[in-house]
Amino acid sequence: MTMITRTDFASDFLWGVSTSAYQIEGAAAVDGRVPSIWDTFSETPGKIRDGATGAVACDHYHRWEEDLDLAQSMGLNSYRFSIAWTRIFNGVNAEPNAKGLEFYSKLVDGMLARGLQPWCTLYHWDLPQYLQDQGGWNNRATIDAYLHYVDVITKHLGSRIKHWITHNEPWCTAMHGNWDGMHAPGNKNLPLALQVCHNVLVSHGRAVPLIRANAPGAQIGIALSLHPIKAGSDSAADLAAVSRHDALRNRWFLDVLYGRGYPAEALALVGADAPVVEAGDLDAIAVPCDFLGVNYYFPEVVVDAPDEYPLRTRIIHPEGRQRTDFGWEVSPEGLISLLERVARDYPTGDLYVTENGSSYDDHLNADGTVTDTARRDYLIRHLTAMRDAISAGGNIKGYFAWSLLDNFEWAEGYLRRFGLTYIDYPTQRRIVKQSGEWYSAFVRGQNS
Ligand code: FCB
Repeated sequence: MTMITRTDFASDFLWGVSTSAYQIEGAAAVDGRVPSIWDTFSETPGKIRDGATGAVACDHYHRWEEDLDLAQSMGLNSYRFSIAWTRIFNGVNAEPNAKGLEFYSKLVDGMLARGLQPWCTLYHWDLPQYLQDQGGWNNRATIDAYLHYVDVITKHLGSRIKHWITHNEPWCTAMHGNWDGMHAPGNKNLPLALQVCHNVLVSHGRAVPLIRANAPGAQIGIALSLHPIKAGSDSAADLAAVSRHDALRNRWFLDVLYGRGYPAEALALVGADAPVVEAGDLDAIAVPCDFLGVNYYFPEVVVDAPDEYPLRTRIIHPEGRQRTDFGWEVSPEGLISLLERVARDYPTGDLYVTENGSSYDDHLNADGTVTDTARRDYLIRHLTAMRDAISAGGNIKGYFAWSLLDNFEWAEGYLRRFGLTYIDYPTQRRIVKQSGEWYSAFVRGQNS
C-alpha cells in the first residue's frame, strides 16, 4: 500500500469526521423534541431492517462530551454534525425551544473548546412530521418554515459557526424519500420526487443570503451525493446510457446550482413529470456559494435499458470488483475522476470531501479491539486518491470521514457499521477501531 502522510497535504487542510443528528443522537422524546419523518418511517413495520429506529441510536444527546473527547483525542481539527429541526420547533408557528437551542449551543462550545472547527449541516433528512402532514417538501410553505428555522439557528450560532451546509444530499431527500420509497417519507412517485427536489434546492438558494446576514464571514455550501457513472460495456447503447443517467443523477443538481438550469437531456426524459418552476426560482438556486461538499462512496455502472422509465438505464453490479460488505464498489479512482470532473465543469470554489467511508461487518475481538483492516485500507486508498487529485490541481481543502461512530444507517438500521469507532450497542461503549487508530496517527503525523 502507498505510504501517505499528513505532510502530503497543506498544513491548514481540514481533517474531520461527519455525523448526523438522527443517526446518533437518540433521546427522541427528550427536552421537547417532536417526531420527524424518520421517527414515523422507522416505526412503520417493514421499512427498516430488523425494525430498528433511531430512538436511542448512540445516545449522543447524553454522551456528546465523550464523543467530542473522542474526536479531539483522534487529533482532528474539524467536526461535521447536523441540527435536528425537531428539537428547535414543535409546530409551524411555535416559539423556538430553548432546550434545543441550548443543546446545540453547548455542543458547539464543546467543539470550539476542543479545537474542532464546527461544520453545521442544517438539514440532514429529518423533516418535522408536522410539516410532512401538510405535504412536506412538496408544499412550498415548507421552504418558508425552513428559512425561519435557518434564521433562528444562524442568529443563535452564527457568531460561533463559520461553516454552514444548507442541505445534505438533496438526491436522497427527494429520490429515496419519494421515488424509490426507501427512505422517509416513503413515497413512490417520480413527479412528486422531482418537485420535492426542486423545492429543496430553492430552499437552499434562499437560505444562503440569510446565513450570510446572520453569520458574517461564514463559508456556505451544500453537500451533494455524486457518483461517477460508468458504462457496463463499450457498446454505443451503454455509453449513451451513461450520459442519460448522469443527467439526472449528477447534472440535475450541479447544472442548476451553477446557473445552467436543469439539463435539457434530463428534462426531455422526464417530460411532463418535470417540476413546476416559479419565476425567480432558478436565479435563487444559482446563488453563489463558497464551497461544494462532495459526498463520495462509489461509482454507478449502468447499461441501456429501454423499458426503464424515465432514464432508460439500469444500474448493474458487475462481478469481480472489490466491494464493501454493504456491496458498494471500492473505487478510489472514482474519487479522483469525480473531483476532477466537478472542478473542470463547474465554478465550485473550494471543494471539501464532506463524506467518504465504508461499511464492514465488524466484530469485537476477545481482547476488546476491532480489527477493521479493510476499512483502514479503504481510507488509505481514498486519501491517496485525494492527494493525487490535489497534485493534479484540485482545489480540495478538507476531508470528513463518514463516520465518527457506528450509527443508525437509515433503512439498513444498525446492521451497517461505518464508524471509525465501534459502538457496543447494549452497553453504548465506544471502542476506537484499527481504522480510527490509523486515521488518528495519520492526522497527528505519526504514521510514517
Ligand atoms: C450518505 C448519508 C449519510 C450516511 C452515509 C453512509 O448518503 O449522507 O447519512 O448514511 O450515506
